Amino acid sequence: MKNLFVKLVSVAMIACMGMAIASCGGSKKSGMTIEDGKLIMATNAAFPPYEYYDGDRIVGIDAEIAQAVADRLGLTLEIQDIAFDSIIAGIQAGKYDIGAAGMTVTEDRLQSVNFSSTYATGIQSIIIPEGSEITDIDTLCDGDYIVGVQSGTTGDIYMADELGESRIDRYQTGNDAVLALISGKVDAVVIDDQPAQAFVAANEGLTILETPFAVEDYAMAINKDNEELLAAVNQALDELRADGTIDEIINRYIPAEG
Ligand code: ARG
Repeated sequence: MKNLFVKLVSVAMIACMGMAIASCGGSKKSGMTIEDGKLIMATNAAFPPYEYYDGDRIVGIDAEIAQAVADRLGLTLEIQDIAFDSIIAGIQAGKYDIGAAGMTVTEDRLQSVNFSSTYATGIQSIIIPEGSEITDIDTLCDGDYIVGVQSGTTGDIYMADELGESRIDRYQTGNDAVLALISGKVDAVVIDDQPAQAFVAANEGLTILETPFAVEDYAMAINKDNEELLAAVNQALDELRADGTIDEIINRYIPAEG
């Protein structure tokens, strides 16, 4: 676990550096996105409260922050719901302008895409059935338990590292992993804390364990060749941070505890 902690802390440091460097930029409106006048966002919309369906509309923290960024840049936001593990490849291939999906900044992903400044944070959590023998991350790791994860997420990467491939079951969405937990196919699900709370609230008989995992930074992924869009998005995020819009959006979806 100690290794993991060090890894995560260094990722957080890189994210902070990114914030310091990306301070210039403007709000040029045309030519910097795939389709003129449009900001095409890729997400995976089974990750409440960051992105999920309200009827046939995708709502959530990422959807609203991306909408606010698009508004600042004078662009129309178009959201595409795809597999989480296809988002980075799609951005590299020039199919989407941004990836906004509660996506953690990691050193590995930084090899493939740029990340905007951080606009939210998350922590990995363990969801177990009530009454489970698993009491903490160590019992989970030491036993022969099978862990359900969403394919390609940091939960997947960390758990595969810790437990080995044979003890990981990968699912297309976090919700599918939780359904596998409910039907007894897996013994635990490792996923970000806010979706974990939403899944536990929506399903009977599940509970969450605290873990020693460090905090992860969420940011928007952008094609490495598109420095102009990166600067413009960072400028918009700076403004939305300064005028309280980002806090307002996050606090509406994640009411303060207490
Ligand atoms: N924060 C985790 C990661 O970046 C999980 C994100 C999953 N997001 C989603 N929209 N399904 O790997």
